[in-house]
Amino acid sequence: MIIEVKNLKKTYEALVPVKVLKNINFEVKKGEFLALMGRSGSGKSTLLHQLGLLDTPSSGKIIIDGIDLMSLSEKQKSQFRLKKLGYVFQSYALLPELTALESVFLPLMLDNIPKKEYLKKAAKMLKKVGLGKKLNHLPQELSGGEQQRVAIARALVNDPLILFADEPTANLDSEASLTVIKLFRELNKEIGQTIIMVTHEPDDEQYVDRVIWLKDGIIKKDY
Ligand SMILES: Nc1ncnc2c1ncn2[C@@H]1O[C@H](COP(=O)(O)OP(=O)(O)OP(=O)(O)O)[C@@H](O)[C@H]1O
Ligand SMILES: [Mg+2]
Repeated sequence: MIIEVKNLKKTYEALVPVKVLKNINFEVKKGEFLALMGRSGSGKSTLLHQLGLLDTPSSGKIIIDGIDLMSLSEKQKSQFRLKKLGYVFQSYALLPELTALESVFLPLMLDNIPKKEYLKKAAKMLKKVGLGKKLNHLPQELSGGEQQRVAIARALVNDPLILFADEPTANLDSEASLTVIKLFRELNKEIGQTIIMVTHEPDDEQYVDRVIWLKDGIIKKDY
């Protein structure tokens, strides 16, 4: 199992504490393409943030690739995020002054990969997402769907163990959405990329291996 989640709980400590994840248990196999679904406020993003080391659970365990995330120091956590995890969000979060190629090689450059190698890898990844002809375009010169594909290339360029995506198609028109979801499916099939994606789109079900349906912070359905 690439992910094991045991008795996971998350409560936000507000004036009145908000119990968002109540007692979550599940496992994910390597190479699975999993969708997290459920109504607004059911806890999908919160769960994704716990799994992706972007937040700290209140209690319970998350084990990724045999490593108990709660045992890691802050420094180890950031290394783990950088080396092992990839993220795609609803907003593409591209820096406006970086070209597509620069956005994608940045994580490799920060990881001290030699220039020749990072240029090659970044260009290859952009080609894979269908942007081989737009390497030197700035975000403002790309459509929403293209910007999201740059973000996907950036998330995948250092071969993450798991790709996390939170409503990656929410800002896209239906054609661009379809391109993105089909790209995920292809990456999952071709390179066995493990993907955990939050989505609102009932149509997305046909592209994934499995759906976990959250309701009020518990798993209501798993199919
Ligand atoms: N930092 C926070 N502090 C307090 N409450 C929070 C915080 N983040 C989220 N919540 C609450 O937790 C609940 C679940 O939020 P979450 O963002 O996980 O839902 P979601 O399923 O992703 O919804 P959506 O589909 O609208 O994105 C909501 O009631 C939200 O108000
Ligand atoms: Mg959300």
